Amino acid sequence: MSVTIGTPLQSSAFKVLLLGSGELGKEVVISLQRLGVEVHAADRYDHAPAMQVAHYSYTLNMADAEELKQLIQQVKPHLIIPEIEAIATQVLVDIEQQNIATVIPSAKAVNLTMNREGIRRLAAEELGLPTSAYRFADTLESFRAACDDIGYPNFVKPVMSSSGKGQSRVKSFDEVDAAWEYAQTGGRVNQGTVIVEAQIDFDFEITLLTVRAKNADTGEIETQYCDPIGHRQDSGDYVESWQPQAMTQAALEESKRIANKVTIALGGCGIFGVELFVKGDQVWFSEVSPRPHDTGLVTLASQFQSEFELHARAILGLPVNTTRHSVAASAVIYAGVDDHNLSFSGLNLALANPNTDLRLFGKPEGFKRRRMGVATARAETTDQARELALHTATQVSVQQN
Ligand SMILES: Nc1ncnc2c1ncn2[C@@H]1O[C@H](COP(=O)(O)OP(=O)(O)OP(=O)(O)O)[C@@H](O)[C@H]1O
Ligand SMILES: [Mg+2]
Repeated sequence: MSVTIGTPLQSSAFKVLLLGSGELGKEVVISLQRLGVEVHAADRYDHAPAMQVAHYSYTLNMADAEELKQLIQQVKPHLIIPEIEAIATQVLVDIEQQNIATVIPSAKAVNLTMNREGIRRLAAEELGLPTSAYRFADTLESFRAACDDIGYPNFVKPVMSSSGKGQSRVKSFDEVDAAWEYAQTGGRVNQGTVIVEAQIDFDFEITLLTVRAKNADTGEIETQYCDPIGHRQDSGDYVESWQPQAMTQAALEESKRIANKVTIALGGCGIFGVELFVKGDQVWFSEVSPRPHDTGLVTLASQFQSEFELHARAILGLPVNTTRHSVAASAVIYAGVDDHNLSFSGLNLALANPNTDLRLFGKPEGFKRRRMGVATARAETTDQARELALHTATQVSVQQN
């Protein structure tokens, strides 16, 4: 059955509730608005980016099951799109079971990926996909043993965390206790479990944007892939990305095999950001976002349908086109200061080159390392695109008022 989209703000409206209203959600909202969808956006603070382009917005603690249930009862959305991981996901499992709304891409996907243990055990133990060696630990003693077992250097991450929070790279036994302390403060829950991962000595890492969308003729869900996106991470946070990332045919095939397996297991329709480590022809699964990926901001400049448009179409049951038309790159613009009410200048310089573009997210408050915008650039080669995107980002200066 294909979707019928009514008129926003009238009784026929097709309603979507976005849980988490950051910059990625903002672009998803814009794509949905263009298709006439009525959008409700929620976050823990007022005036979040996606709220600024939605029909309705709500400020609440989405990790609180009661508050979340109440909001869903009030809005009565057709689709619920979780845009962040810190959500009372059990509520979404119940909502899906009772057929109250469709959870994007599926309650299972959202529930498993909000916890590194869930997705890692699925990928490595159930699906048999290649990953780094790993151990879980929930006490200092078991953590010390896990680190010694895995060896050094290793990566320590709270299982309930994202964007590098509470993560460290542990180079020797001397650093183990400090890594434990740090992990306990950086996770979403105190005294949480951590994963210890062996370091993978990769040549480069990619995000393979993978879309599960209905075939226009058959109505069957098919898997399609965007060209691989290369990226550079600094302290667990992406600072620049480019598309395409050159890689061997064998590595690309293996990447698609892994992405296909993991996204089929998670189920539903929508875009997934499959994070992979690559060395020669060898590929390791790292993690997956069941939603647009920050490194995929580059697709705003490189593809006919950005990852946000792909997501909007896929979740509405519409056909998608993952074709890339340009080589492009993206570079992050940070606030550089902790303050509200910031101003951005140098935009004329940043946009002087006709192959560049900007997104300023409109976040009400900046922190030193908070992403406030992104620059994109198109060029002949990825090296040139990266250079131009970085140059564009540095032309933008942030002022306090
Ligand atoms: N086992 C590993 N071996 C080598 N590098 C790793 C490993 N684990 C993590 N990294 C590096 O740290 C980065 C962040 O790790 P990961 O993606 O697991 O954390 P995250 O907090 O989910 O980050 P984000 O939210 O930005 O995706 C990776 O992109 C990679 O550069
Ligand atoms: Mg990651």
